[in-house]
Amino acid sequence: MRIYVTKDYAEMSRKAANIISAQIIIKPDSILGLATGSTPIGTYDQLVNWYEKGDLDFSEVVTVNLDEYRGLGPESPQSYVYYMRHYLFDRVNIKPENTHLPNGLNENAEEACNDYNELLNKLGEQDLQILGIGRNGHIGFNEPDEIFDQDVHCVSLTNSTIEANKRFFEAGEEVPKYAYTMGIRSILRARKILMMASGEDKADAVKKAFFGPVTPLVPASILQLHDDVILVTDQAAYSKCANSTHTRHTAYIL
Ligand code: F6R
Repeated sequence: MRIYVTKDYAEMSRKAANIISAQIIIKPDSILGLATGSTPIGTYDQLVNWYEKGDLDFSEVVTVNLDEYRGLGPESPQSYVYYMRHYLFDRVNIKPENTHLPNGLNENAEEACNDYNELLNKLGEQDLQILGIGRNGHIGFNEPDEIFDQDVHCVSLTNSTIEANKRFFEAGEEVPKYAYTMGIRSILRARKILMMASGEDKADAVKKAFFGPVTPLVPASILQLHDDVILVTDQAAYSKCANSTHTRHTAYIL
């Protein structure tokens, strides 16, 4: 695993955008697995900036998002489809038909998950999967559990995730309690995985995920078993790992 430790959020965003743009330049029809949340916003901004300068072309790129809230659709500003359009899709020349998320408007969980699983299988593995990390070590909406859930599934969100997500909702508004998410197998089948982490509140999760035991209690720890993972983290999120060592990790302090 390669680990890039950057000075701050801006540098982390730029480094991650560099890796994503290299992927698109080398393989213009790349399948990108995308994440939402606050972490990748700076990265998406940087990609848009390079697109506007003529350095990046999204016309053949295909995207599959990690997750979506059950019950929310494109009209809802809190939905992930809305987020993706706002921060990336509507700002670059990606074809709308090449962008995919689980269908939050289908409240029939089994059907929604089967449909998304089928789509992922039809498209084939992601060339590059982008991930953020939850404070409890979650990836996508794979929350700490006794087992690793494999394929796309419907999850009941933990209180800590509902609390963390409240910042995106108006006061008094209901934060959805269920979400559709890629499972661990859907994530691990990506050829390359890029995880981003920023801020002191992620320091525990980053340490446990990359330097602790592989356990479903820290879902991101499964990434230690993937052959091609890049972690781009700022100093704050890496602060608890400074003295840790791992035979399979190489860290570059930028
Ligand atoms: C979002 C997602 C989540 C986030 C994680 C970190 O699509 O899958 O796992 O990556 O909750 O969120 P932020 O970046 O808001 O700290």
